[in-house]
Amino acid sequence: MASIDYSEKIPNNVNLSEDRALKRALEQWQPNYLAWWNDMGPDGSQDFDVYLRTAVSVDPQGWAQFAHVKMPDYRWGIFLNPAEQARKIHFGDHLGEDAWQDVPGEYRANLRRIIVTQGDTEPASVEQQRHLGLTCPSQYDLRNLFQVNVEEGRHLWAMVYLLHKYFGRDGREEGEALLERRSGQVDNPRILQAFNEQTPDWLSFFMFTYFTDRDGKFQLCALAESAFDPLARTTRFMLTEEAHHMFVGESGVSRVIQRTCQVMNELRTDDPAKLRAAGVIDLPTIQRYLNFHFSVTIDLFGADESSNAATFYSTGLKGRYEEGKRNDDHLLRGQSYRVLQEQNGQLVEKEVPLLNALNEVLRDDYIKDSVGGVERWNRVIEKAGIGFRLKVPHKAFHRNIGALSGIKVSPEGRLVSSAEWAFHVDQWLPTAGDRQFVASLMGRVVEPGKFANWIAPPALGINRQALNFEYIRFN
Ligand SMILES: [Fe+2]
Ligand SMILES: [Fe+2]
Repeated sequence: MASIDYSEKIPNNVNLSEDRALKRALEQWQPNYLAWWNDMGPDGSQDFDVYLRTAVSVDPQGWAQFAHVKMPDYRWGIFLNPAEQARKIHFGDHLGEDAWQDVPGEYRANLRRIIVTQGDTEPASVEQQRHLGLTCPSQYDLRNLFQVNVEEGRHLWAMVYLLHKYFGRDGREEGEALLERRSGQVDNPRILQAFNEQTPDWLSFFMFTYFTDRDGKFQLCALAESAFDPLARTTRFMLTEEAHHMFVGESGVSRVIQRTCQVMNELRTDDPAKLRAAGVIDLPTIQRYLNFHFSVTIDLFGADESSNAATFYSTGLKGRYEEGKRNDDHLLRGQSYRVLQEQNGQLVEKEVPLLNALNEVLRDDYIKDSVGGVERWNRVIEKAGIGFRLKVPHKAFHRNIGALSGIKVSPEGRLVSSAEWAFHVDQWLPTAGDRQFVASLMGRVVEPGKFANWIAPPALGINRQALNFEYIRFN
């Protein structure tokens, strides 16, 4: 297996030195990327030595190494999973043909759009999270935030490599534009709405990495099936890194819950006011954050009925989640799928052509997957002997994209009037007061081994280090 050449300016396992034009193009993009990092990367952290993992191979066993690194010196590079011998296209109209090693002219525009949309989310999340380091609950958490940030930076590199190598001048222009858009900026925002929302506090960060990085996982899994082999190979390696991001989210929320339950038992109360006074986040507030992040994230899968989704599938650009494990004809013509819509004041299921419903299929797969972690959070609450359950809201709750946008639905899935929505919304979604309270807890804890009062320590350190290990040297 090709190991990664670190003697080069841009570490890679794609023989960059043999493609001079590409190498030159990427080396011209590199300083612009670093300027973006210095400008929009983690605030005030450029001089810290951070205990980071760096990809050193694409071998599933031992692909990473850990060391203290200043983030601007992180070796962002280009790593593709090894090519599969004689890989065939395994879905859509080109089923059975050889996978493409180059971009077919007729699919160029769509492929570019898919790659740019994915690429845009990567720097966006770094921008969204750039102030969080100032309020970290521990060194351990700060290190995890920075790890996620540098890897999102690398994911941007992965997409820019594809743009530069396969899309010529247009691709280079897109590579620049990816460094120019800004999360939340009015004039030049990021492409997808969830990536223009703020991530103002650590509860939001953990919810984001649990729910929204998981959207990333599902999008990457769908692209990992692509007939365009370089896209499939680069997204497969990105998935290796993505797993840690979701771990940060799942374990982060879990530790918040654990700490809250501990204080609930100590004080023998479930009164949010008393718990807040004790400096922990009450479970109903956690539920409202969950409702928000879940609903905003499932919008990312796009409209429930989409002719683009059908085209992307039929032309082989984007498969389904675990396409290879499904036992059907992988053409999906003449089949149907149920999507929800409102009819005479009720939510009803409607049969639509499956090919047009592939966004909904991916969204449903995502929902199944995200429920799992919520159940693990519930076990923490159960174990503490507390009778409260977290739940993901109904799919139709708080939607802004597709047939369900514009209707008001309760978290249980009941259609409600605007008046009823207005009456209950403060129980369903985080209020300004909730956000203010959570923000009030966010002090900076950086002493090795110390954790903020509102979160329990993790069970284990990173890379088997102790919890009081110096994950960050602040210099
Ligand atoms: Fe990513
Ligand atoms: Fe991620």
